[in-house]
Amino acid sequence: MEPILEVTNLSKNFGGLAAVSGINMKIDKGQLVGLIGPNGAGKTTFFNLLTGVYEPSEGLIELNVDNKKKQIGGMKPYKITELGLARTFQNIRLFKSMTVLENVKLAMHKNAGYGLPSALLRTSKYYNAERWIEEKACEYLQEVGLYRKRNELATNLPYGEQRRLEIARALATEPVILFLDEPAAGMNPQETEDLTQLIYHLRDKYKLTIVLIEHDMSLVMNLCEHIFVLNYGQLIAHGTPEEIKNNEFVIKAYLGEEI
Ligand SMILES: Nc1ncnc2c1ncn2[C@@H]1O[C@H](COP(=O)(O)OP(=O)(O)OP(=O)(O)O)[C@@H](O)[C@H]1O
Ligand SMILES: [Mg+2]
Repeated sequence: MEPILEVTNLSKNFGGLAAVSGINMKIDKGQLVGLIGPNGAGKTTFFNLLTGVYEPSEGLIELNVDNKKKQIGGMKPYKITELGLARTFQNIRLFKSMTVLENVKLAMHKNAGYGLPSALLRTSKYYNAERWIEEKACEYLQEVGLYRKRNELATNLPYGEQRRLEIARALATEPVILFLDEPAAGMNPQETEDLTQLIYHLRDKYKLTIVLIEHDMSLVMNLCEHIFVLNYGQLIAHGTPEEIKNNEFVIKAYLGEEI
């Protein structure tokens, strides 16, 4: 089977700093993948390269969807979203003064299939599209357990729920690959356990490939089938959770912290 995503010699320099350096990675379709590494290792920068926030200094990012291969390195973020990559952010990015439902609906408008003229004229096409958007948005909110809270302001949700709302927004773009940047940050143990179940469920229901950055090692080791480890911008190891736990380079990178 061909990988759904293949990264070759990917690098990003900020001035003299090699934040991401010569990364090679293959990700199989449907896999649950972990990306770990100490603070400042380059994990978020790597996501930013894959999702078009930054242009690579060097290297290739090849997406393979429906047997069509595309180089996506350096493409605009909205183009990359259209091709099926979606993400959440380490620092939550929601429209805080909008409701939970509005936040999801906004993420969907690109797929609505009607233009501004019909929106202005309030044609039946517009109304149909609006109804469809509303129904789909509610479906995604149900998936992440936030349907009941759909009319609350995003800013009033507890932290853990804001993170799940970000996941609903990402789902609303109908991705094939979902990138989650520290989805369990700020969650209590029960919320983290619920998140684990949610990630399994979403992978199966929407046939997703999921890549997640996490510092919560028990979450990563329980959930992920394959783990990549970054340190100072370089890939120092990859393998199964068992292989990673026992890898001497990984243990050294974490300076004896429990993995
Ligand atoms: N836009 C930028 N300009 C300059 N330096 C940057 C920029 N973005 C990231 N860096 C630097 O690149 C390095 C990698 O940062 P990055 O945020 O990717 O790490 P990380 O692995 O996600 O860390 P954390 O676990 O703390 O989130 C850091 O030294 C950071 O200061
Ligand atoms: Mg980060």
